[in-house]
Amino acid sequence: MFRFKKKEKLSVPLEVPKHIGIIMDGNGRWAKKRMQPRVFGHKAGMEALQEVTIAAKEMGVKALTVYAFSTENWTRPQQEVSFIMNLPVEFYDRFVPELHRNNVKIQMIGEVSRLPKETLEALEKAEALTHSNTGLILNFALNYGGRAELTQAVKQIAQEVLDAHLNPGDITEETIANYLYTSSLPKDLRDPDLIIRTSGELRLSNFLPWQAAYSELYFTDVMWPDFGEKALHDAIEEYSHRHRRFGGV
Ligand code: FPP
Repeated sequence: MFRFKKKEKLSVPLEVPKHIGIIMDGNGRWAKKRMQPRVFGHKAGMEALQEVTIAAKEMGVKALTVYAFSTENWTRPQQEVSFIMNLPVEFYDRFVPELHRNNVKIQMIGEVSRLPKETLEALEKAEALTHSNTGLILNFALNYGGRAELTQAVKQIAQEVLDAHLNPGDITEETIANYLYTSSLPKDLRDPDLIIRTSGELRLSNFLPWQAAYSELYFTDVMWPDFGEKALHDAIEEYSHRHRRFGGV
C-alpha cells in the first residue's frame, strides 16, 4: 500500500538581530480607545515590555534598548510625567525578579542623574541585582535624547583635547562611539541591528541617531501595549528577509 508522508510544517529560518531598539509608542492612544486615562496605557506598556523582553531572550536576542522616556517628554502634563517616573519602582517589585531568574541584565542610558531620586534608586537596584547576569541586556533609555548624547560626547572629547590627552587628528569613529552612552554595552552590541517603532509613526524621534546609521527599520501600526511575542516574531521574521549591505553591494 502506498502511504503519503505527511508534509512537515517547516518553521521559517530566522536570522535573529543581536540588538533591537524599540520606540514603544502608542500607549496614550491605546488607553484613549478604551476610554481610560493615558497613564493606563503606560501601565499596560510596562506589561508588554515584560512579555517582549522574555520573548526576545527566548528567540536569542542579546540586547534590547527601549525608549522609555525622552529628553522631550518632560513637557507632558506633570501628572503623566510623575506616573512614568514611578514605573521603574513598580517594575522593580513586580517584574525584575522574573527577569533576574531569566538571567536578564538591566542597564540604562541617558541623562539619568536628572531623574527623580526614587526612580534612579529603583533602576540602580535593578542594575546591581542583575549585574552578573550573562543573558539578554535590557537597556532602558531614560531621559535620553540622541542630540544630547552627541553634545555631551563632543564636550568630553573637546576637554580631552584641551587636556592634551587626545590629538584631534587621532579622533576616529570609534573614539566618538567610546564617548556615547552606549559605550556601556559590549562592543559588538552598541549599534542596534533592528529598530522597531510601534503605533504607525514613521520617524526616529532622536532615538540613537549615531548608532542607527545602519539599522534596519521596522514600523508597525500595532500600539505598544498590544505588541507581544507574536508581533516581535513578525518583526524578526521581516528582518531575517532583509539584506544588510552596510554600503557595500
Ligand atoms: C510613548 O507613548 C510612550 C512613552 C513616552 C512611555 C513608555 C514607557 C513604557 C512603555 C513603560 C516603560 C517601563 C519602565 C519600567 C520605565 P505615548 O504616550 O506617546 O502614546 P501616544 O503617542 O499614543 O500618545
